Amino acid sequence: MSLSAAEKPLIAVLKGADCSPPPVWFLRQAGRYLPEYRELRRESPDFLALCNTPELAARITLQPVDRFAVDAAIVFSDILIVPHGMGRTVRFLEGEGPYLTPLRCQADIDALDAEGAVEKNRSLMETLRLVRRKLDGRTALIGFAGGPITIAAYMIDGSGGAFPATKRLIKDDPGLVDRLVARLADAVTGLLLAEVEAGADAVQIFDSWAGLLDDDVSFARWCVSPTRRIVARVRDVHPRIPVIGFPRGAGRRYAEFARGTGIHALQVDQDVPLDMMRDLQSICPVQGNLDPGILLAGGEAMRRRAQSIVTGLSGGSHVFNLGHGIIKDTPPSHVADLVNAVRS
Ligand code: CP3
Repeated sequence: MSLSAAEKPLIAVLKGADCSPPPVWFLRQAGRYLPEYRELRRESPDFLALCNTPELAARITLQPVDRFAVDAAIVFSDILIVPHGMGRTVRFLEGEGPYLTPLRCQADIDALDAEGAVEKNRSLMETLRLVRRKLDGRTALIGFAGGPITIAAYMIDGSGGAFPATKRLIKDDPGLVDRLVARLADAVTGLLLAEVEAGADAVQIFDSWAGLLDDDVSFARWCVSPTRRIVARVRDVHPRIPVIGFPRGAGRRYAEFARGTGIHALQVDQDVPLDMMRDLQSICPVQGNLDPGILLAGGEAMRRRAQSIVTGLSGGSHVFNLGHGIIKDTPPSHVADLVNAVRS
Protein backbone atom coordinates (compact mmCIF):
# COMPACT_ATOMS: atom_id res chain seq x y z
CA MET A 1 0.00 0.00 0.00
CA SER A 2 1.36 3.48 -0.77
CA LEU A 3 0.91 6.77 1.03
CA SER A 4 -2.23 8.84 0.46
CA ALA A 5 -1.69 12.60 0.38
CA ALA A 6 -4.67 13.24 2.65
CA GLU A 7 -3.26 11.33 5.58
CA LYS A 8 -0.46 12.16 7.99
CA PRO A 9 2.52 9.93 7.13
CA LEU A 10 2.66 8.36 10.61
CA ILE A 11 -1.03 7.46 10.59
CA ALA A 12 -0.87 6.04 7.07
CA VAL A 13 2.06 3.81 8.05
CA LEU A 14 0.35 2.67 11.26
CA LYS A 15 -2.52 1.56 9.04
CA GLY A 16 -0.25 -0.47 6.77
CA ALA A 17 1.18 1.93 4.17
CA ASP A 18 4.90 1.99 3.51
CA CYS A 19 6.80 5.18 3.30
CA SER A 20 10.40 6.00 2.45
CA PRO A 21 11.98 7.53 4.45
CA PRO A 22 9.90 6.24 7.37
CA PRO A 23 8.06 8.61 9.72
CA VAL A 24 10.09 9.27 12.86
CA TRP A 25 9.37 10.28 16.46
CA PHE A 26 10.90 9.33 19.82
CA LEU A 27 9.77 7.75 23.06
CA ARG A 28 10.07 10.44 25.76
CA GLN A 29 10.87 13.07 23.16
CA ALA A 30 9.77 15.75 25.64
CA GLY A 31 11.65 15.87 28.91
CA ARG A 32 14.75 16.62 30.90
CA TYR A 33 17.31 16.31 28.08
CA LEU A 34 15.81 19.49 26.56
CA PRO A 35 16.96 22.79 28.16
CA GLU A 36 13.61 24.41 27.28
CA TYR A 37 11.85 21.66 29.30
CA ARG A 38 14.17 22.07 32.28
CA GLU A 39 13.46 25.79 32.24
CA LEU A 40 9.69 25.30 32.52
CA ARG A 41 10.21 22.50 35.04
CA ARG A 42 12.22 24.77 37.37
CA GLU A 43 9.15 26.97 37.76
CA SER A 44 6.87 23.95 38.43
CA PRO A 45 8.50 21.66 41.00
CA ASP A 46 5.34 19.53 41.20
CA PHE A 47 5.48 17.18 38.18
CA LEU A 48 1.81 16.11 38.33
CA ALA A 49 0.72 19.74 38.58
CA LEU A 50 2.76 20.42 35.44
CA CYS A 51 0.97 17.54 33.65
CA ASN A 52 -2.34 19.03 34.82
CA THR A 53 -1.71 22.56 33.53
CA PRO A 54 -2.85 22.46 29.89
CA GLU A 55 -1.04 25.65 28.79
CA LEU A 56 2.32 24.36 30.05
CA ALA A 57 1.77 20.71 29.08
CA ALA A 58 0.86 21.84 25.55
CA ARG A 59 4.03 23.94 25.30
CA ILE A 60 6.15 21.00 26.46
CA THR A 61 4.41 18.65 23.99
CA LEU A 62 5.36 20.99 21.14
CA GLN A 63 9.00 21.57 22.18
CA PRO A 64 10.46 18.51 20.36
CA VAL A 65 8.16 19.11 17.37
CA ASP A 66 9.43 22.68 17.00
CA ARG A 67 13.04 21.66 17.48
CA PHE A 68 13.25 18.50 15.35
CA ALA A 69 10.16 18.53 13.06
CA VAL A 70 9.38 14.95 14.08
CA ASP A 71 6.32 13.28 12.55
CA ALA A 72 4.40 13.10 15.82
CA ALA A 73 3.68 15.03 18.97
CA ILE A 74 3.05 12.78 21.98
CA VAL A 75 0.96 14.54 24.58
CA PHE A 76 2.87 15.48 27.72
CA SER A 77 1.42 13.51 30.64
CA ASP A 78 2.28 10.30 32.52
CA ILE A 79 0.99 6.74 32.83
CA LEU A 80 0.50 7.25 36.59
CA ILE A 81 -2.31 9.79 36.15
CA VAL A 82 -4.60 6.72 36.08
CA PRO A 83 -4.02 5.56 39.68
CA HIS A 84 -3.86 9.23 40.72
CA GLY A 85 -7.26 9.87 39.12
CA MET A 86 -8.69 6.71 40.70
CA GLY A 87 -7.83 8.01 44.15
CA ARG A 88 -4.41 6.53 44.98
CA THR A 89 -1.66 8.77 46.34
CA VAL A 90 1.02 9.34 43.69
CA ARG A 91 4.09 11.50 44.24
CA PHE A 92 7.13 12.16 42.09
CA LEU A 93 10.15 12.53 44.31
CA GLU A 94 12.89 14.74 42.92
CA GLY A 95 15.50 12.59 41.18
CA GLU A 96 13.95 9.32 42.46
CA GLY A 97 10.94 8.71 40.26
CA PRO A 98 7.39 7.94 41.32
CA TYR A 99 6.20 6.81 44.73
CA LEU A 100 2.65 5.51 45.38
CA THR A 101 1.00 4.32 48.56
CA PRO A 102 1.16 0.54 48.03
CA LEU A 103 -2.11 -1.27 47.25
CA ARG A 104 -2.41 -4.60 49.04
CA CYS A 105 -5.98 -5.86 49.43
CA GLN A 106 -9.45 -6.13 47.95
CA ALA A 107 -10.70 -3.17 50.01
CA ASP A 108 -8.10 -0.98 48.24
CA ILE A 109 -9.47 -2.15 44.88
CA ASP A 110 -13.09 -1.59 45.97
CA ALA A 111 -12.23 1.97 46.93
CA LEU A 112 -10.88 2.86 43.44
CA ASP A 113 -12.88 5.55 41.67
CA ALA A 114 -13.76 3.99 38.30
CA GLU A 115 -14.68 7.32 36.66
CA GLY A 116 -11.70 9.15 38.15
CA ALA A 117 -9.22 8.09 35.45
CA VAL A 118 -11.12 10.30 33.00
CA GLU A 119 -12.95 12.75 35.24
CA LYS A 120 -9.94 13.77 37.34
CA ASN A 121 -7.78 14.04 34.24
CA ARG A 122 -9.91 16.35 32.11
CA SER A 123 -6.92 18.72 31.88
CA LEU A 124 -5.19 16.12 29.67
CA MET A 125 -8.06 16.36 27.19
CA GLU A 126 -7.73 20.16 27.29
CA THR A 127 -3.99 19.80 26.53
CA LEU A 128 -4.81 17.60 23.54
CA ARG A 129 -7.29 20.17 22.23
CA LEU A 130 -4.72 22.98 22.62
CA VAL A 131 -1.99 20.98 20.85
CA ARG A 132 -4.39 19.88 18.10
CA ARG A 133 -5.09 23.53 17.28
CA LYS A 134 -1.38 24.37 17.06
CA LEU A 135 -0.23 21.46 14.89
CA ASP A 136 -0.14 21.54 11.12
CA GLY A 137 -1.84 18.92 8.99
CA ARG A 138 1.30 16.72 8.67
CA THR A 139 2.24 16.15 12.30
CA ALA A 140 0.23 13.46 14.05
CA LEU A 141 -0.88 13.75 17.67
CA ILE A 142 -0.46 10.67 19.86
CA GLY A 143 -2.33 10.02 23.10
CA PHE A 144 -1.29 7.26 25.48
CA ALA A 145 -1.92 5.26 28.62
CA GLY A 146 -0.03 2.65 30.60
CA GLY A 147 -0.76 -1.04 30.17
CA PRO A 148 -2.90 -2.47 33.00
CA ILE A 149 -0.22 -4.75 34.47
CA THR A 150 2.38 -1.97 34.37
CA ILE A 151 0.07 0.42 36.23
CA ALA A 152 -0.89 -2.39 38.62
CA ALA A 153 2.78 -3.11 39.35
CA TYR A 154 3.44 0.53 40.34
CA MET A 155 0.27 0.50 42.46
CA ILE A 156 1.17 -2.73 44.27
CA ASP A 157 4.88 -2.07 44.86
CA GLY A 158 4.61 1.68 45.22
CA SER A 159 7.69 2.29 43.07
CA GLY A 160 9.49 0.96 40.01
CA GLY A 161 12.37 -1.53 39.83
CA ALA A 162 12.16 -5.25 40.48
CA PHE A 163 8.50 -5.20 41.68
CA PRO A 164 8.91 -7.89 44.39
CA ALA A 165 5.46 -7.28 45.95
CA THR A 166 3.75 -7.63 42.56
CA LYS A 167 5.58 -10.89 41.87
CA ARG A 168 4.60 -12.22 45.30
CA LEU A 169 0.93 -11.25 44.83
CA ILE A 170 0.87 -12.92 41.40
CA LYS A 171 1.88 -16.16 43.15
CA ASP A 172 -0.16 -15.84 46.36
CA ASP A 173 -3.41 -14.26 45.15
CA PRO A 174 -3.71 -14.23 41.35
CA GLY A 175 -7.47 -13.58 41.63
CA LEU A 176 -6.76 -10.23 43.27
CA VAL A 177 -4.39 -9.34 40.42
CA ASP A 178 -7.14 -10.33 37.94
CA ARG A 179 -9.62 -7.98 39.60
CA LEU A 180 -7.17 -5.07 39.74
CA VAL A 181 -6.08 -5.55 36.13
CA ALA A 182 -9.73 -5.73 34.99
CA ARG A 183 -10.52 -2.43 36.76
CA LEU A 184 -7.45 -0.82 35.19
CA ALA A 185 -8.27 -2.14 31.71
CA ASP A 186 -11.67 -0.40 31.95
CA ALA A 187 -10.07 2.80 33.23
CA VAL A 188 -7.43 2.77 30.46
CA THR A 189 -10.12 2.14 27.83
CA GLY A 190 -12.12 5.13 29.07
CA LEU A 191 -9.05 7.35 29.09
CA LEU A 192 -7.96 6.37 25.56
CA LEU A 193 -11.48 6.99 24.20
CA ALA A 194 -11.54 10.43 25.84
CA GLU A 195 -8.11 11.22 24.36
CA VAL A 196 -9.32 10.31 20.87
CA GLU A 197 -12.40 12.46 21.34
CA ALA A 198 -10.11 15.35 22.33
CA GLY A 199 -8.10 15.04 19.11
CA ALA A 200 -5.53 12.22 19.31
CA ASP A 201 -4.88 10.66 15.86
CA ALA A 202 -3.45 7.47 17.39
CA VAL A 203 -2.89 6.07 20.87
CA GLN A 204 -0.08 4.02 22.37
CA ILE A 205 -0.32 1.59 25.29
CA PHE A 206 2.96 1.58 27.28
CA ASP A 207 3.18 -1.80 28.98
CA SER A 208 6.73 -1.05 30.09
CA TRP A 209 6.88 -3.84 32.66
CA ALA A 210 5.14 -6.59 30.67
CA GLY A 211 8.52 -8.34 30.83
CA LEU A 212 7.95 -9.15 34.51
CA LEU A 213 5.37 -11.72 33.36
CA ASP A 214 8.00 -14.30 32.60
CA ASP A 215 5.93 -17.33 31.63
CA ASP A 216 3.49 -17.77 28.73
CA VAL A 217 0.43 -18.29 30.91
CA SER A 218 0.79 -15.14 33.00
CA PHE A 219 1.80 -13.09 29.93
CA ALA A 220 -1.42 -14.21 28.20
CA ARG A 221 -3.51 -13.59 31.32
CA TRP A 222 -2.28 -10.13 32.39
CA CYS A 223 -0.85 -8.60 29.23
CA VAL A 224 -2.42 -10.07 26.06
CA SER A 225 -5.93 -10.57 27.34
CA PRO A 226 -6.55 -7.14 28.97
CA THR A 227 -4.90 -5.43 25.98
CA ARG A 228 -7.17 -7.36 23.61
CA ARG A 229 -10.21 -6.00 25.49
CA ILE A 230 -8.91 -2.42 25.34
CA VAL A 231 -8.12 -2.66 21.62
CA ALA A 232 -11.48 -4.24 20.78
CA ARG A 233 -13.38 -1.48 22.56
CA VAL A 234 -11.36 1.39 21.04
CA ARG A 235 -11.72 -0.20 17.59
CA ASP A 236 -15.45 -0.57 18.15
CA VAL A 237 -15.98 3.10 18.94
CA HIS A 238 -13.23 4.62 16.72
CA PRO A 239 -12.42 2.14 13.93
CA ARG A 240 -10.08 4.59 12.13
CA ILE A 241 -7.79 5.26 15.10
CA PRO A 242 -4.64 3.09 15.22
CA VAL A 243 -3.63 1.63 18.59
CA ILE A 244 0.10 0.95 19.09
CA GLY A 245 1.01 -1.73 21.63
CA PHE A 246 4.31 -1.81 23.53
CA PRO A 247 4.80 -4.87 25.76
CA ARG A 248 8.41 -3.93 26.53
CA GLY A 249 10.69 -6.86 27.20
CA ALA A 250 8.27 -9.38 25.64
CA GLY A 251 11.13 -11.06 23.71
CA ARG A 252 9.86 -14.03 21.72
CA ARG A 253 6.29 -13.24 22.89
CA TYR A 254 5.96 -10.07 20.74
CA ALA A 255 4.42 -12.12 17.92
CA GLU A 256 1.90 -13.73 20.25
CA PHE A 257 1.05 -10.27 21.61
CA ALA A 258 0.53 -8.81 18.12
CA ARG A 259 -1.67 -11.72 16.99
CA GLY A 260 -3.53 -12.15 20.24
CA THR A 261 -4.41 -8.49 20.91
CA GLY A 262 -5.40 -7.38 17.40
CA ILE A 263 -3.25 -4.27 17.94
CA HIS A 264 -2.82 -2.09 14.82
CA ALA A 265 0.94 -1.61 15.26
CA LEU A 266 3.70 -2.89 17.50
CA GLN A 267 6.44 -0.91 19.26
CA VAL A 268 9.47 -3.09 20.07
CA ASP A 269 12.41 -2.55 22.41
CA GLN A 270 16.09 -2.53 21.41
CA ASP A 271 16.64 -6.20 22.29
CA VAL A 272 14.60 -7.30 19.28
CA PRO A 273 16.91 -8.14 16.33
CA LEU A 274 16.19 -6.84 12.82
CA ASP A 275 15.26 -10.23 11.35
CA MET A 276 12.65 -10.71 14.06
CA MET A 277 11.27 -7.21 13.38
CA ARG A 278 10.96 -8.17 9.72
CA ASP A 279 8.96 -11.27 10.72
CA LEU A 280 6.75 -9.10 12.93
CA GLN A 281 6.09 -6.78 9.96
CA SER A 282 4.19 -9.65 8.36
CA ILE A 283 1.70 -9.41 11.25
CA CYS A 284 1.40 -5.61 11.58
CA PRO A 285 3.37 -2.34 11.19
CA VAL A 286 6.40 -2.15 13.50
CA GLN A 287 7.79 0.85 15.39
CA GLY A 288 11.31 1.03 16.83
CA ASN A 289 13.98 0.34 17.90
CA LEU A 290 17.33 2.18 18.14
CA ASP A 291 19.03 1.69 21.51
CA PRO A 292 18.75 4.98 23.48
CA GLY A 293 22.36 4.34 24.61
CA ILE A 294 23.47 4.57 20.97
CA LEU A 295 21.62 7.90 20.67
CA LEU A 296 23.34 9.11 23.85
CA ALA A 297 26.74 8.32 22.32
CA GLY A 298 25.79 9.77 18.90
CA GLY A 299 28.19 10.11 15.96
CA GLU A 300 28.96 7.83 13.06
CA ALA A 301 28.04 4.61 14.93
CA MET A 302 24.58 6.02 15.59
CA ARG A 303 24.07 7.10 11.98
CA ARG A 304 25.18 3.69 10.70
CA ARG A 305 22.88 1.81 13.07
CA ALA A 306 19.93 4.09 12.17
CA GLN A 307 20.54 3.48 8.48
CA SER A 308 20.68 -0.27 8.92
CA ILE A 309 17.34 -0.21 10.77
CA VAL A 310 15.76 1.95 8.05
CA THR A 311 17.11 -0.21 5.23
CA GLY A 312 16.39 -3.47 6.99
CA LEU A 313 12.72 -2.64 7.49
CA SER A 314 12.05 -0.79 4.24
CA GLY A 315 10.21 -3.78 2.77
CA GLY A 316 7.21 -3.23 5.06
CA SER A 317 5.46 -0.71 7.30
CA HIS A 318 7.95 0.85 9.69
CA VAL A 319 7.94 3.86 12.01
CA PHE A 320 11.41 4.85 13.17
CA ASN A 321 11.70 5.23 16.94
CA LEU A 322 13.91 4.22 19.84
CA GLY A 323 13.57 0.98 21.82
CA HIS A 324 12.92 2.95 25.02
CA GLY A 325 12.85 6.56 26.19
CA ILE A 326 15.54 9.18 25.51
CA ILE A 327 18.12 9.18 28.32
CA LYS A 328 18.26 12.48 30.20
CA ASP A 329 21.93 13.27 29.45
CA THR A 330 21.41 12.96 25.68
CA PRO A 331 22.62 16.06 23.79
CA PRO A 332 19.71 17.46 21.72
CA SER A 333 22.14 17.80 18.78
CA HIS A 334 22.34 13.98 18.64
CA VAL A 335 18.57 13.82 18.25
CA ALA A 336 18.67 16.36 15.40
CA ASP A 337 21.46 14.36 13.80
CA LEU A 338 19.43 11.15 14.10
CA VAL A 339 16.37 12.70 12.43
CA ASN A 340 18.64 13.75 9.55
CA ALA A 341 20.18 10.31 9.30
CA VAL A 342 16.74 8.66 9.14
CA ARG A 343 15.52 11.10 6.48
CA SER A 344 18.58 11.08 4.23
O1 CP3 B 1 7.55 12.82 25.66
C1 CP3 B 1 6.86 11.87 26.07
O2 CP3 B 1 7.19 10.68 25.90
C2 CP3 B 1 5.53 12.13 26.72
C3 CP3 B 1 5.47 12.07 28.12
C4 CP3 B 1 5.68 10.80 28.94
C5 CP3 B 1 6.18 10.89 30.27
N1 CP3 B 1 6.10 9.66 30.83
C6 CP3 B 1 6.68 12.11 30.93
C7 CP3 B 1 7.57 12.01 32.10
C8 CP3 B 1 5.37 9.46 28.70
C9 CP3 B 1 4.85 8.80 27.43
C10 CP3 B 1 5.62 8.74 29.91
C11 CP3 B 1 5.37 7.30 30.07
C12 CP3 B 1 5.80 6.64 31.30
N2 CP3 B 1 5.81 7.12 32.58
C13 CP3 B 1 6.19 5.28 31.35
C14 CP3 B 1 6.19 4.34 30.16
C15 CP3 B 1 7.39 4.51 29.30
C16 CP3 B 1 8.67 4.10 29.94
O3 CP3 B 1 9.54 4.98 30.10
O4 CP3 B 1 8.83 2.92 30.27
C17 CP3 B 1 6.50 4.98 32.69
C18 CP3 B 1 6.99 3.64 33.21
C19 CP3 B 1 6.26 6.15 33.46
C20 CP3 B 1 6.40 6.31 34.95
C21 CP3 B 1 7.40 7.34 35.29
N3 CP3 B 1 7.23 8.70 35.12
C22 CP3 B 1 8.70 7.14 35.84
C23 CP3 B 1 9.31 5.78 36.16
C24 CP3 B 1 9.27 8.40 36.00
C25 CP3 B 1 10.60 8.72 36.66
C26 CP3 B 1 11.76 8.32 35.87
C27 CP3 B 1 12.05 9.29 34.75
O5 CP3 B 1 12.25 8.83 33.63
O6 CP3 B 1 12.10 10.48 35.05
C28 CP3 B 1 8.35 9.35 35.51
C29 CP3 B 1 8.54 10.82 35.45
C30 CP3 B 1 8.40 11.47 34.11
N4 CP3 B 1 7.41 11.20 33.19
C31 CP3 B 1 9.22 12.49 33.59
C32 CP3 B 1 8.70 12.85 32.33
C33 CP3 B 1 9.20 13.93 31.42
C34 CP3 B 1 10.39 13.15 34.32
C35 CP3 B 1 9.83 14.10 35.29
C36 CP3 B 1 10.78 15.20 35.64
O7 CP3 B 1 11.52 15.02 36.60
O8 CP3 B 1 10.74 16.25 35.00
